[in-house]
Amino acid sequence: MNTEERTADSQQKCIVIFALVCCFAVLVALIFSAVDVLGEDEDILNDDNCSDICQVVLVENIPEDISISHEGTTSLTAGLHGLLDLAQKSVEIVSPWWDLNSTEQDSRFPQAKQGRLLLHRLMGLKAQGVQLKVASGMTSSPELKLLSHYGAEVRYLNMTALTKGELRSSFWVVDRKHMYIGSAAMDWRSLSTLKELGIIVYECRCLAVDLHRIFNLYWQLEYREFVPAIWSKRLSALYSKEEHFSFHLNGSQAKAYISSSPNIFRPKDRTTDIEAIFRVIQDAKRFICISMTDYLPLLSSSPHNKYWSRIDGMLREALILKHVRVRLLISCREQTHPLTFNFLWSLQSLCIQTANCSMEARFFSPRVRDDGSPQGVHHHRYVVTDNSVYIGNLDWVGNEFVFNAGAGLVVSELGRSSTLAERLKSVFDRDWRSLYAKPLQPNKIPTCSSSAGVSKGHTGHTEDTGSPNASL
Ligand SMILES: *[C@@H]1O[C@H](CO)[C@@H](O)[C@H](O)[C@H]1NC(C)=O
Ligand SMILES: *[C@@H]1O[C@H](CO)[C@@H](O)[C@H](O)[C@H]1NC(C)=O
Ligand SMILES: *[C@@H]1O[C@H](CO)[C@@H](O)[C@H](O)[C@H]1NC(C)=O
Ligand SMILES: *[C@@H]1O[C@H](CO)[C@@H](O)[C@H](O)[C@H]1NC(C)=O
Ligand SMILES: *[C@@H]1O[C@H](CO)[C@@H](O)[C@H](O)[C@H]1NC(C)=O
Repeated sequence: MNTEERTADSQQKCIVIFALVCCFAVLVALIFSAVDVLGEDEDILNDDNCSDICQVVLVENIPEDISISHEGTTSLTAGLHGLLDLAQKSVEIVSPWWDLNSTEQDSRFPQAKQGRLLLHRLMGLKAQGVQLKVASGMTSSPELKLLSHYGAEVRYLNMTALTKGELRSSFWVVDRKHMYIGSAAMDWRSLSTLKELGIIVYECRCLAVDLHRIFNLYWQLEYREFVPAIWSKRLSALYSKEEHFSFHLNGSQAKAYISSSPNIFRPKDRTTDIEAIFRVIQDAKRFICISMTDYLPLLSSSPHNKYWSRIDGMLREALILKHVRVRLLISCREQTHPLTFNFLWSLQSLCIQTANCSMEARFFSPRVRDDGSPQGVHHHRYVVTDNSVYIGNLDWVGNEFVFNAGAGLVVSELGRSSTLAERLKSVFDRDWRSLYAKPLQPNKIPTCSSSAGVSKGHTGHTEDTGSPNASL
């Protein structure tokens, strides 16, 4: 074999190897495109655009005729409009449902018009050069149709097929720089008759990009009937319970990360909500204050309902073994499951005749207006301890964590100056001491639907059936 032949031979080999490599590359590209959106620019973060100095405000909706004052919090409506004022490029919204058009409610609830005003702002975004993107679990929402008519990009997730649950996530990401997360949905009630709480973080690209990744995950699940086995790298969490984002929040040194649910919506490194709550409860040294719409440690799955001990167990451990003081403020409304009281009473009775054990539960009953409609249904979903804050989207009901999609923000502050935790604690104390909070009495189940005859239409929303219903 002469040199020429040898060269030709190795050239042929090269071509074959090259072809194989090409095939392989195409195959890999195909596999990954299955979970990737083409054309989505990578979120590159560097020291220039990953600021570690962020600002935070707590936002609340306190219904008009509820005698509770803003405890250093901003109004939710003002906060959301403020975010839209800041928006220059994009606004990404996830909401469990859409019901902002309040035209028919305006006469009964003057504040209801806030819903319509917000809807009009969202309709006008495109004209200002701002792209609105909405991920939703609702197939046929007239409001989302309207928004797409005005230039919004709307993507639908078939949650029934994906998780057998619902999309309960409620957050905003603005310009991948500012974010809102909290209990309020895009619902006129959230801006008027419901008592809501959320958090807005400004100028915090790192955290906002991480939340944007959760948005992107929903975005990529459009039209899918099953959850992909491999997630794109672009969906991996930037921060987790092991690796927090360290920054300055309103001047105080803090650590934060974002959690999400359910388990199967979990790309690499993402901490689940239940793990985040576990960590927050475990890290508490002195007290745990929980403000929730529903508390029900049950998992209703056919054919049998099951006791779902995850959070209940953590609280028992904190009470008995670690002597942490626990207080639970739960909503008392028509949809409140009667077993809620039994479970809370069971927790409370753990402390009977036990030294250094303190557990108290109270129920927040809304004010009932003359026309029978409740004002100020307690819709909060947060925990605050002596060192951390968790603000999330899901109720503390087994089914929520197992089937529904949600997200949460955990912030721990270091050192003595804990701005956020202190602020949230005073919000909790304000509600706890308010005239609407009723203590849990032994052997007595409070009547939460005292307003007999209230038509169901305006007592909140069907969302609140996260609790196993009458089948129990
Ligand atoms: C951060 O800056 C880099 C280069 O300066 C840019 O490529 C990247 O897109 C920026 N990231 C975000 C989230 O804006
Ligand atoms: C809101 O609802 C009313 C009555 O249902 C309807 O006439 C109106 O067009 C709606 N507005 C928008 C902006 O969809
Ligand atoms: C969602 O998925 C379920 C189960 O696969 C299917 O029956 C239903 O038609 C789907 N809904 C839509 C709107 O595609
Ligand atoms: C209860 O707390 C007090 C004061 O912190 C402590 O002195 C006492 O030993 C504790 N008792 C028990 C049983 O842990
Ligand atoms: C953070 O600082 C801003 C501006 O100074 C203030 O409005 C806000 O209430 C502060 N947030 C908290 C949680 O203290």
